[in-house]
Amino acid sequence: MKTQVAIIGAGPAGLMLAHLLHLAGIESVIIEARSRGYVEGRIRAGVLEQGTVDLLSATGVGERMRREGLLHQGIEIGFAGKRHRIDMQQLTGQAVMVYGQHEVVKDLIEARLHEGGEIVFEAGSVSIVGFDGASPLVRYEADGMKREIHCDYIAGCDGFHGVCRPSVPANALTIYERDYPFGWLGVLADAAPSQDELVYMNHTNGFALFSMRSPTVTRLYLQCDPSEDIAHWSDDRIWGELLCRFKCSDGWQPNVGRITQKSITPMRSFVTEPMQFGRLFLAGDAAHIVPPTGAKGMNLAIADVRVLARALVDFYIGGSTARLEHYSQICLRRIWKAQRFSWWMTSMLHQFPDANPFDRRRQIADLDYVTSSLIAARSLAENYVGLPMDEPDQWNG
Ligand code: FAD
Ligand code: DHB
Repeated sequence: MKTQVAIIGAGPAGLMLAHLLHLAGIESVIIEARSRGYVEGRIRAGVLEQGTVDLLSATGVGERMRREGLLHQGIEIGFAGKRHRIDMQQLTGQAVMVYGQHEVVKDLIEARLHEGGEIVFEAGSVSIVGFDGASPLVRYEADGMKREIHCDYIAGCDGFHGVCRPSVPANALTIYERDYPFGWLGVLADAAPSQDELVYMNHTNGFALFSMRSPTVTRLYLQCDPSEDIAHWSDDRIWGELLCRFKCSDGWQPNVGRITQKSITPMRSFVTEPMQFGRLFLAGDAAHIVPPTGAKGMNLAIADVRVLARALVDFYIGGSTARLEHYSQICLRRIWKAQRFSWWMTSMLHQFPDANPFDRRRQIADLDYVTSSLIAARSLAENYVGLPMDEPDQWNG
């Protein structure tokens, strides 16, 4: 088989890239290791930045999101038993949309298949070769047969544990990373959200986050040990800890309901530089990871492929490789700001096991400042709704 762009991975990055390329008349094939049911059911992120919302809408895949998504104009930051509202709409003129990542994935898969696009699900033994030269090749197995796709470019959208990044010679990439001494235990509960906005809570037992997925489903997270066995967290223990961490002087608390899903995610910050090697371009989690406290992971994945699609359009339609050559540079400038924001939100809201009394007082000062200074709150809000996706002028065609 032959195509113009072979895309590895049917997460938000790979699916959005295929969709954007299709709109520009560029052919692609997506090769995904998992089944359609698995990727459509994988519960992950939930907050879409304004730029992500606008892109989904402008490219014709935002109809269900606009109908079912929940528009949030503010968030709450809680500490010392009190919640403080950050009015993002007033501070920035922008808002975010709460709409599950797996719903975005479902909408993009449906659009892709409706457009007649090809997604190979359950591809086995995926490998990529030849991307250091002019003839990249993707090999995989399907229905017990070995298959090959010849292409002009490979987009590595296969997440943090994929095959694309490790296929680049190690000495060609520089990795910047930081691990955190905690993870998030996330649950979905059949319980009506007890208020309309998210609550990011700093508590002496550890961070907790109140979010939602629909008028009948609450999404909650708890800071926990990253090596913790989920089997040690009974539903009663989870609710006990959540209610304790969210306890506020005004009596507010989340509604309790049946827990339908629970999992533990470790937290790390990770950046690969550059995000390109020859004719291989890495996008999304394949190139970088943020701790989820800033709700940036999926949004960064979408922002990368927006740049990549534009660069490929410049090449195929405009005959210019300038933007492809500067892909990493264009993406990394914004990625590092999202890294900084995600690290800062994480540092401000979590309990660090090695924190001394000075660190704890400084953390409270950070929280007090950001919830009492309009200027500090505006900076948080500007980052939370998403920094502009504008590219430097010299690459605007
Ligand atoms: P992915 O969504 O990871 O997609 C990569 C795709 O590639 C997957 O479908 C995978 O099956 C496929 N793949 C992998 N290896 C291969 C291979 N060898 N061959 C073919 N296909 C392959 N972000 C937040 O903002 N908030 C959250 O609460 C949050 N929770 C998360 C929880 C978990 C468990 C994880 C892992 C991530 C979470 N994130 C969260 C981050 C966010 O979900 C990611 O940033 C986002 O999924 C990135 O999209 P992507 O398309 O780059 O990668
Ligand atoms: C959700 C996840 C996040 O990482 C976050 O910062 C806010 C909300 C969510 O899954 O709803």
